Amino acid sequence: MTERERWATRVGLVLAMAGNAVGLGNFLRFPRQVALNGGGAFMIPYFCAFILMGIPLMWLEWTMGRYGGQFGHSTTAGQFDAMWRSRWAKYIGSIGISIPLLFAVYYIYIESWTLAYSFFSITKKYFDIAEMEKMNTFLQSFQGVSQSGEFFSSIVVAIFFWLITLIINIWVIGKGISRGIERLAKIAMPLLFLFGFILVIRVLTLGTPDPRYPDRNVMNGLAYMWNPNFSRLTDFSVWLAAAGQIFFTLSIGTGTIQTYASYLRKDDDCVLTGLSTSATNEFVEVVLGGSIAIPISVAFFGITTTQLIASQGSFDLGFVAMPIILQKLPLGFFFGAMWFILLFFAGITSSVALTSPLMALLGEKFGIPRVRAAKIVGLILFVLGLPVIFFLKHGYMDQYDFWIGTILLALLAMCETLVFVFAFSRTRISGSRLKNRLLGYLKFGLDAGWEEMNRGADIKIPRIFYYILKYFVPLFLIILFCGWFWQDLRSETSVILMKGIDSQQGLFRWAARLTITGVILGVGFLVKLAWRKRK
Ligand code: PHE
Repeated sequence: MTERERWATRVGLVLAMAGNAVGLGNFLRFPRQVALNGGGAFMIPYFCAFILMGIPLMWLEWTMGRYGGQFGHSTTAGQFDAMWRSRWAKYIGSIGISIPLLFAVYYIYIESWTLAYSFFSITKKYFDIAEMEKMNTFLQSFQGVSQSGEFFSSIVVAIFFWLITLIINIWVIGKGISRGIERLAKIAMPLLFLFGFILVIRVLTLGTPDPRYPDRNVMNGLAYMWNPNFSRLTDFSVWLAAAGQIFFTLSIGTGTIQTYASYLRKDDDCVLTGLSTSATNEFVEVVLGGSIAIPISVAFFGITTTQLIASQGSFDLGFVAMPIILQKLPLGFFFGAMWFILLFFAGITSSVALTSPLMALLGEKFGIPRVRAAKIVGLILFVLGLPVIFFLKHGYMDQYDFWIGTILLALLAMCETLVFVFAFSRTRISGSRLKNRLLGYLKFGLDAGWEEMNRGADIKIPRIFYYILKYFVPLFLIILFCGWFWQDLRSETSVILMKGIDSQQGLFRWAARLTITGVILGVGFLVKLAWRKRK
């Protein structure tokens, strides 16, 4: 067996893990969620979810990754198998390979827009477009959603940038963990911080850009973002949104943290390092992500318009409002490029993480050399990506985002918590034919997991987290799960019931669902083959 890959340095590990978490979600998704869900008051459920669910799950994922890594398992399929002696374990764990793969399919496409817009900023392609509506048409024309042919005669430009983005991703993962992903993080993350700080300072020193509208200023922007609207706190949907954002931003429930953590050594610390990367992500999200898009938009357009922009869609703030505003600043092309390159760095350090579980499966269980594995992953992403691009206007991507980016994350988190809390201890007790399963659960609970988690730890985890993990997290996840379904089913625009769309649109959405199901089953089958091969 070849030597297992490892992270080369601790700094590199922290940056790669932080790079995994820090992504488009921090700069595009977060500000919008805050603005839509009660401003500063949103931060109460947000931090509750961070402390009570985000941090414990982060520790859990680091621990199970490191544990599985000792047995040569870099994916959750093998890790579940190592923790739980059941023939189903590896199949349930295999969703930790299919979820990130499916995630990567649409994430890389969005990431490629940021590369394209960096280029459009430098070449000033969108300069002179001053109205919101027109900039929106520009975006839609680029995406092939509107076919007016006004700015782009076809979707070819978008495909071109998508292919470049895909190739860069494949190139990085083909180089491996320490020489590819870790090196990328060591370059991209410091630059991301630098660009983030420069942009925040630029935004905060804007003052009142247009003296004719004294209330359109940065201070009001920050106030809009942070003034607490406590009345929203009794709204269950705000809590759901906060928990969803925590999942998304920390990359929890996707199988990627576990894969990264599997390249740790047996006694490497999980607790302090896991906590620091989470804290880094929160800093980038709350401080940097919260001080750019919304404040600048209020300063230029005022609160009412910003509200409208934020409510319209996830991308309007970043790809419509920002280009209009940044071009007005002195050196606008420079700041515009900086914004989109920042997004690109945030995106690529996340997308390489999303492809890592499948890479690990191919390399580790099928013995496929890295570069060839990377090409296979690239080909899969290419094939699965085409419908996302061509059917964007038919809501194909929305289906992905709902099922993958919301529901399945929570499902994986729930499965891993149950396995870690209930099954793991039984597995470790030799001859674990316990007479009574239920009794076994109650008796051993989290003990093996807790011990594993604390091994090699640089700080001690407060005991309260033992109970949080054992009782609170599973319960919370069940509530969350039911909550999302209930909310969606009641909504005017239910994704599940596909309300308010015609039959043609319905067809495309069913195609998305079938693809998602197909990929999950396909990866499950691969895992079956891999295990058969092992024997
Ligand atoms: N956390 C990333 C973001 O905030 C998204 C992501 C999710 C990346 C899951 C990897 C795995 O954008």
